[in-house]
Amino acid sequence: MMVSVYWAEAGLEKSNFKPKEFLQSFGRRKSRKLLITKQNLLEDSLPDYLIDLSKLFLVGQKFWLEIGFGGGEHLAGRALANPEITMLGCEPFYDGIASMLGHIKREGIKNIRIFNDDARLLLKALPDKSLERVFILFPDPWPKLRHQKRRIVNQQTLDLLARVMCEGGELLLATDHVDYGVWMLEHLQADPRFIWQANEPEDWQNPPPGWVETRYQVKTTLEGRKPMFLRYVFSG
Ligand SMILES: C[S@@+](CC[C@H](N)C(=O)[O-])C[C@H]1O[C@@H](n2cnc3c(N)ncnc32)[C@H](O)[C@@H]1O
Repeated sequence: MMVSVYWAEAGLEKSNFKPKEFLQSFGRRKSRKLLITKQNLLEDSLPDYLIDLSKLFLVGQKFWLEIGFGGGEHLAGRALANPEITMLGCEPFYDGIASMLGHIKREGIKNIRIFNDDARLLLKALPDKSLERVFILFPDPWPKLRHQKRRIVNQQTLDLLARVMCEGGELLLATDHVDYGVWMLEHLQADPRFIWQANEPEDWQNPPPGWVETRYQVKTTLEGRKPMFLRYVFSG
C-alpha cells in the first residue's frame, strides 16, 4: 500500500517545479511498520480530505495553514475552535497524516484539508494573499552545522510566505531549540515585511492566547525544556 502524492487532485502541476528546488527539510516519510488501522485510514479517508485548489478558492473562505502538523493535535484543536476558518495542513510523514485523519474522524472535524507533501510546493501554488495565519511549530532543528541549510525557516520560505500571506496576517513559530530560535529571529528580524509582536520577555516565553499544545511541545516540556514562541504580523 501507499497513498501517492495527489499532485493532480491538489491542482498542482508537478512539471511546474524544478527538481531539487527545495532542499529536503524532513526525515522519513514512512515509519518501518505503519499500523494497519493507520494504513486503512490513509487508504479510505485521505482522498476525501486532500486539498483541491480548484474547489477551495471558489467560495472566498479564510485560510490558516500549518506547516508540519506532526500528529495533527494542534490543527485539530484550532479547527474545532474556529469552525468558520478552513485549516490547511501540510505534512509529508504518513504516520502523522494518519493521526490527523483519526482526529478528523473522532472529533467530527469538517474544516481541515491536507497536503501530504512539502509545504513549499503548496505555497508556490496558492493564490496571492490567501492565508490569514501560518503556523510553523517545532520544526525539525537540523542541529548539525552542515545540515542547517535544510531548516524550513529560511529566506526562501519567507519569500514564498510573503506572496501568499494577507496584509496583517500572522506568522506563529515555536521551537525548543535555542540555536534554531536565534536563527528564526535572525532571519525574521532581517526581513522588514514581518513585524515581531514582542515587547517583553513574557511575550516570547509564553504561548500567545488561544494556543493549542502540540505533541512535540508536550514531550519537550515534560523533558524540562522551555520553548520560545514567536509571533509576527505580515505587513506586505
Ligand atoms: C519536530 S516535528 C513537529 C511536529 C508538530 N509541529 C509538533 O509540534 O508536534 C516537525 C514536522 O515537520 C514536518 N516537516 C518537515 N519539513 C516539512 C515541509 N517542508 N513541509 C511540511 N512538513 C514538514 C516533519 O515531517 C515533522 O512531522
